[in-house]
Amino acid sequence: MQNPIIAALDLPTAEQALQLAREVSPAVGAFKIGKELFVAAGPDIVKRVRDTGASVFLDLKFHDIPNTVAKAVASAVRLDVQMLTIHTCGGGAMMRAAEEAAQQTALHSGRNAPLVLGVTVLTSHDASTLSEIGCEANVGRQVERLAQLAVRSGLRGLVCSPLEIAGLRLILPETIQLVTPGIRTGAEQADDQKRTLTPRQAMDAGASWLVIGRPIYAAPNPREAAEMIFASLQ
Ligand code: C5P
Repeated sequence: MQNPIIAALDLPTAEQALQLAREVSPAVGAFKIGKELFVAAGPDIVKRVRDTGASVFLDLKFHDIPNTVAKAVASAVRLDVQMLTIHTCGGGAMMRAAEEAAQQTALHSGRNAPLVLGVTVLTSHDASTLSEIGCEANVGRQVERLAQLAVRSGLRGLVCSPLEIAGLRLILPETIQLVTPGIRTGAEQADDQKRTLTPRQAMDAGASWLVIGRPIYAAPNPREAAEMIFASLQ
């Protein structure tokens, strides 16, 4: 099987991130670069992580007017990322513009288009925060609504919580790639992730990719931790 592990480089400096990337690269399928690292280290960190031979998931969760998001996506494609995130609550026009920018820029750059992933409802939201901002207060219904809008708008993948995978698999075309954080093996210290699945459970539920942060980067031996997680999936 292809390695579905995306190790999150949730570290504050380029040096720390690159050290982890070089150590863990052969044992994972990709690295996730999020806001903390990107804002601290700049776009050059994407190139330096790509130089380790790894794929890059740029998790900046774009949400703006369609023209601006399309241009940000085009810039990300020119950085040679393989996955990136946008907010589905930016609406259908924004998602269509993002997907089209990914396809067109990739074509002009002679690359494969990255997977543009839609983020539905952040896991930090609950019914009260959704109604506070004037949305459908039922989190599950709002996730389904945004997921279906994303698919109608041409996106080929979504980020979802592990507990949403099974439900989304029932309503989405099977070609849609589901990327899920909130993965815990049971070996690590308790932390802020509350509703988790093991890597195996998440894959069995229908995940395509697993975003794993602390269980790898905070492990005594990150390379070994990643190898053990991959072995648990065979
Ligand atoms: O350390 P941990 O495995 O919890 O890291 C999970 C990664 O996935 C972090 O980068 C976190 O920001 C991200 N994430 C998450 N939950 C979401 C969306 C993203 O944990 N709902």
